[in-house]
Amino acid sequence: MAITIQVKDLQQGYGKTIVLKDINLTVHNGEILGLIGPSGAGKTTLVSTIMGMLTPQKGTVTVLGQQMPNRKLLAKIGYMAQTDALYSTLTARENLKFFGAMQGISNDALKKQIPYAAGIVNLNSDLDKYVKDYSGGMKRRLSLAIALVSDPELLILDEPTVGIDPELRQQIWAELRKIAKQGKTILLTTHVMEDAEQSDQLMMIRNGVAIAQGTPDQLIKDFQVDTVEAVFLKAGRQQDENSRND
Ligand SMILES: Nc1ncnc2c1ncn2[C@@H]1O[C@H](COP(=O)(O)OP(=O)(O)O)[C@@H](O)[C@H]1O
Ligand SMILES: [Mg+2]
Repeated sequence: MAITIQVKDLQQGYGKTIVLKDINLTVHNGEILGLIGPSGAGKTTLVSTIMGMLTPQKGTVTVLGQQMPNRKLLAKIGYMAQTDALYSTLTARENLKFFGAMQGISNDALKKQIPYAAGIVNLNSDLDKYVKDYSGGMKRRLSLAIALVSDPELLILDEPTVGIDPELRQQIWAELRKIAKQGKTILLTTHVMEDAEQSDQLMMIRNGVAIAQGTPDQLIKDFQVDTVEAVFLKAGRQQDENSRND
C-alpha cells in the first residue's frame, strides 16, 4: 500500500514552546486516521504541520512523497479548519465556487462537484442562502463541503463533527468510508469516542505525545479493555504514572 502521510521524529511548537514531541506516524492510501486527544493536546498543531502551514521545529513531514511545507501540494489536499473560514456576505454556493476555484477546479467540474459535496452534508436546499444566515452547524457542514469539493487525494478534517447531530454524523461517516474505499486518505481530529471507534487507525495524543497508536481492535486487545474510551483512559493513567516515576 502506498504511503500518503509520513511523519518522522516530529517536534513542533510555537516560538520556544514545545507542543508536540517524538511524533511518528504513517498513513497509507485509503486509510482513515483518527487523531484523538483532549483539548490542547496538540491535534490542530499536528494537522497544521502535516498541511504545511507550520514548518517542523525538528523532524520531517512527507505528504504524497513530497516534503512539507510544499505549496504545490495544497491543490491535492482538502482541508477543513477547526474554525470556519467562510465569507459570510456570500451565499454557500458562492463560497463553494470561490474555494473550488482557488483549488484550481474548472467551472465545468464545479457544476458537478458542488451538488455532490453539498449533498454529503445535506445542504443542497440551502445553497443559495447567505452564510451570515447559517447556524453554527450549517457553517460546519459547509466547511466540510468545501474540503470535499475538489475531490482531493487527502482530506484533513479538524473536528469535523462538532455541532453535527448524530444522524448526520452517521451519514458523513458512511460517505467518508466511500471516499476512503476509492483510495483517498482521510485524517480527522476529534475528541469524540464515537468518531475514534470508526477510524481505521487511531493516534491518541495527550500532553503532546502519542500515548497509543494502532487499529481500534488492536488497541483494545493490547490494553486489555473493552472499549476505545477505556484504552484512552488507561493509556492516560499510564502516562501519569510514568511521569511521576521520572
Ligand atoms: N498560534 C499559537 N501560538 C502559541 N501557542 C499555540 C498556538 N496554537 C496553539 N497553541 C498552543 O499549543 C497547544 C496545543 O494546541 P492545539 O494544537 O490547538 O490543541 P488541540 O487542537 O488538540 O486542542 C495548546 O497549549 C495551545 O495553547
Ligand atoms: Mg484543535
